[in-house]
Amino acid sequence: MDDARVTVRDLERDPEVVAYLRSANAMMNALGFTEHGERHANLVAKIAFNILTRLGYTQREAELAAIAGFMHDTGNLIHRDNHTLSGALLTREILIRLKMPFDEIALVMGAVGNHEEPIGVAVNKIAAAVIIADKADVHSSRVQNADPKSFDIHDRVNFAVRRSFVNVDSDAKMITLDLEIDPTLSTVSEYFEIFLSRMLMCRRAAQFLDCQFALVINGHRLM
Ligand SMILES: [Fe+2]
Ligand SMILES: [Fe+2]
Repeated sequence: MDDARVTVRDLERDPEVVAYLRSANAMMNALGFTEHGERHANLVAKIAFNILTRLGYTQREAELAAIAGFMHDTGNLIHRDNHTLSGALLTREILIRLKMPFDEIALVMGAVGNHEEPIGVAVNKIAAAVIIADKADVHSSRVQNADPKSFDIHDRVNFAVRRSFVNVDSDAKMITLDLEIDPTLSTVSEYFEIFLSRMLMCRRAAQFLDCQFALVINGHRLM
């Protein structure tokens, strides 16, 4: 592999990217949303990378998925609405500055621009990996609201998730989102109330990677 190629590590230490992610998260926090900053960016990058690696895609394809995963929510610093489009354009400017080849930039832009329901579609394998990785990040550590009495349903469901893991079985062609939810804090029906459309998006993304998608909550397969 050519060492000069842009990697997700170049973005992790890029002052512009770091400032944008922190600013995006501060804005989401002000709006009462769960964490959408460096923690989420890092995790989505790692999960997207692992999905493509475990399915036998090339190291470079996995790295592009990591790059798109790291950048996917940067557009939130402008506005939550259309953050997929603003994020894709912000990402383009940064990757041009880092001298990434245009064909790679195009793939990453398509993945960033398609990560969110209802308009996002798995248009390429990088987009498919980012969709699954993004929707898999449901966890108590994402809750920014310090006052449980004012939790909304998103806070409650995230707060209840003690463990969240994406398992990729390349032989069985199966991608499984395995969650552990504390039933005293939220319920499976609450999870579905806010995540059904996201799980359907994951199913379509998995199909794009020639896999089935399964959702397992507290040991029970629900999808
Ligand atoms: Fe997003
Ligand atoms: Fe996200």
